[in-house]
Amino acid sequence: MLELSREADAMKNIAQLAILCAAPALVAACDEKKATPPAEAAAPPAVDAAAAAPPAPDPKVVARGDYLVNVVMNCAACHTPLGPEGPDMSKRFAGGLEFPEPFGTWRSANITQDKKTGIGGWTDEQIAAAIREGKRPNGDKLYPVMPYTFYHVLSDNDTKAVVAYLRTIPPIENAVEGTKDLKLPKPELPKPSGAEPGSAPAEKGAYLATLMHCGQCHTPMDPKTFAPLEDKPMAGGQKFEMPPVFGKGDLYAANITPDKKTGIGTWTDDHMRSAITELKKKDGKPIMGPMSILGMNWGKMEKDDVDGVVAWLKDLKPVANKVPKSTFKPSGPPPPPAGDTVPGGAAAPTGTEKAE
Ligand code: HEC
Ligand code: HEC
Repeated sequence: MLELSREADAMKNIAQLAILCAAPALVAACDEKKATPPAEAAAPPAVDAAAAAPPAPDPKVVARGDYLVNVVMNCAACHTPLGPEGPDMSKRFAGGLEFPEPFGTWRSANITQDKKTGIGGWTDEQIAAAIREGKRPNGDKLYPVMPYTFYHVLSDNDTKAVVAYLRTIPPIENAVEGTKDLKLPKPELPKPSGAEPGSAPAEKGAYLATLMHCGQCHTPMDPKTFAPLEDKPMAGGQKFEMPPVFGKGDLYAANITPDKKTGIGTWTDDHMRSAITELKKKDGKPIMGPMSILGMNWGKMEKDDVDGVVAWLKDLKPVANKVPKSTFKPSGPPPPPAGDTVPGGAAAPTGTEKAE
């Protein structure tokens, strides 16, 4: 608990932006839980498929899932609600975050193992279908705010790993009303291929960048239909507001194509690396807004994986698109220099224990 609140404090210091995922402490807590597989056989069979005791999860598979869920994909960033001070860590993964966007305000679902209000009663296949195809067990389609159009590429092995990890998340009862009336199209997707990515850096990088769903924010949207403009991938310009607890003003997603004038064509590999692992721009200033939340643990990514994403960035087609200047002012103090205490920052956790 202490660790948790300390981490929450550290997070507030970085402009209350990168607060959502106190991974190390919670991951450790989850690890302890791994020893006890979620065998609910004795409970009254709420849902038939969940009644049979599942085989003990393979620790390697759970560890891969942990890496994907907490570091690369950061599900908790969207699936943890806000309290008056920022993300409510006592409800991590329990859903209910409300986030205003030009197409409407969305609300995330409870993805803890609670059987009544979460996904504890869903089969592995049902969870996989929600993640990769945006389908709920009752046939309803999710809004693609849940990045299933990106998670669609998740390989079968990685899907198993993600689901195995989700099974270790303790149940939290939190009934969340579903999102309605977003002006966001729900795309039809083919069956996922489930294939593993190739091992070449740019291929692996493309796979990871898709799971990190850079395109969800960095590809501009049609202002009327809110469909992504597929002819301008990663060219920037989407507008974001943050919930008031984070700060005020508008933020525009940057053009991250290699265009020299309007994109990041003049950046070195190191600039790109520190954008991913330290959330810093070329001039050293912090990347603010939703990316600082989703990416707060990217500093813990394996080096090869980061290099892959850099290779992917350099492979993108340059698109000239000038993005308006952001007016956003964070509500907290500015982030500390160089990733020393940034949660998930490259130089993060080990030495920070006695920082107070
Ligand atoms: C960008 C924000 C975002 C991220 C990241 C995200 N989700 Fe979601 N997720 C949502 C929203 C919003 C919904 C509800 C969508 C709706 O109601 O149509 C949702 C719904 C779901 C559902 C369906 C639950 C239900 O009861 O309908 C599951 C399962 C789920 N997410 C799992 C995950 C997992 C696992 C990850 C990480 C691998 C993840 N999500 C990452 C925003 C996100
Ligand atoms: C949730 C939305 C979101 C996601 C996901 C996201 N970004 Fe961003 N990104 C932004 C916003 C908004 C900005 C502008 C921030 C600012 O102005 O402080 C930004 C800024 C950047 C910058 C700084 C560009 C510059 O010119 O200073 C880079 C580089 C970048 N993003 C790369 C990425 C990569 C690579 C990914 C995927 C691995 C990614 N982003 C995922 C929203 C996002």
